[in-house]
Amino acid sequence: MKTIGILTSGGDAPGMNTAIRAVVRSAIYNNIKVMGIERGYNGLINGTIRQMDLSSVGDIIHRGGTILKTARCEEFKTEEGRKKALDVLRIFGIEGLVIIGGDGSFQGAQKLSHAGIKTIGLPGTIDNDLAYTDYTIGFDTTVNTVLNSVSNIRDTSTSHGRANIIEVMGRHCGDIALYAGLAGGAESVIVPEEEFHVEDVCRKLIQGKNRGKMHSIIILAEGIGNGFDLGKEIEEKTGIETRVTVLGHIQRGGSPTAFDRVLASRMGAKAVQLLMNGKSGRAVGIKNNEMIDLDIDEALAKEKEFDKDMYELAKILSI
Ligand code: ADP
Ligand code: F6P
Repeated sequence: MKTIGILTSGGDAPGMNTAIRAVVRSAIYNNIKVMGIERGYNGLINGTIRQMDLSSVGDIIHRGGTILKTARCEEFKTEEGRKKALDVLRIFGIEGLVIIGGDGSFQGAQKLSHAGIKTIGLPGTIDNDLAYTDYTIGFDTTVNTVLNSVSNIRDTSTSHGRANIIEVMGRHCGDIALYAGLAGGAESVIVPEEEFHVEDVCRKLIQGKNRGKMHSIIILAEGIGNGFDLGKEIEEKTGIETRVTVLGHIQRGGSPTAFDRVLASRMGAKAVQLLMNGKSGRAVGIKNNEMIDLDIDEALAKEKEFDKDMYELAKILSI
């Protein structure tokens, strides 16, 4: 393989830059030319592509976001759009492609693979919603970002004796809420995977208040309900003053943690190795701290299992 391409697609995640650096440097080390494709699949359709060298990935290992930019591209979901992308790939002589993104981006990768372009997917999403891998690039950083906010909010929660609801991202996956909730000692963690009753949340708040507890943190995963409605209901039912914080895109930025940098570096190198071995349509992951790769269709078909034990532990430790 003489030339490979790299792109980031879908929602950005801290550590994407570290992965780009790892792919570019591993490839150049192995005498492979690397083309950087901008704004996800848009760049493939429009030909916004530039050659990358050792210094084009200098000083990015610690930066959030993605130097290649990212986007969602509806045109690529059509046959016509993908035909344009294939033409561009041929023009630039790109034989293999590393795609960093979530499940949507992986579906695009698989389609290119079926069309004869060797593709490798790296899991880049803060949500940790890809079942085949223990962790996705960006998740650990996001959990730590949420945790910093939990600590700050806990201070003011204690000062005022309030209940504080913190709404976090994660679409249909409660991992961000769960990990940040356990690590932050939240009184309640509300996730899409587990049924919840507002009465249970209220009972906990009242019991805590009765034993002199001055702060209460409730972590709510987005998509289950509106944090502000929940806050109002809690206030009405318990008489405890409640405040709501929606963390939003604060969770998507920032310098990647050591964990994410190590993960992204290992995954990037693994992707190049797979391409050099002629592999295609593979998703790179981590299981029990080992790098793994499996067929993208197989990876996407796996159903995410929610860690019920961890959820129960968070409950037990916050009685
Ligand atoms: P993520 O990769 O973070 O899950 P999206 O689901 O928004 O993000 O997908 C990112 C991009 O991947 C889409 O905008 C589109 O360009 C491409 N994509 C998603 N689904 C498909 C599909 N079924 N076929 C081809 N391309 C797809
Ligand atoms: O998939 C990552 C994610 O951050 C989700 O948790 C969130 O719902 C979504 O992206 C928001 O995406 P955007 O604001 O970029 O449309």
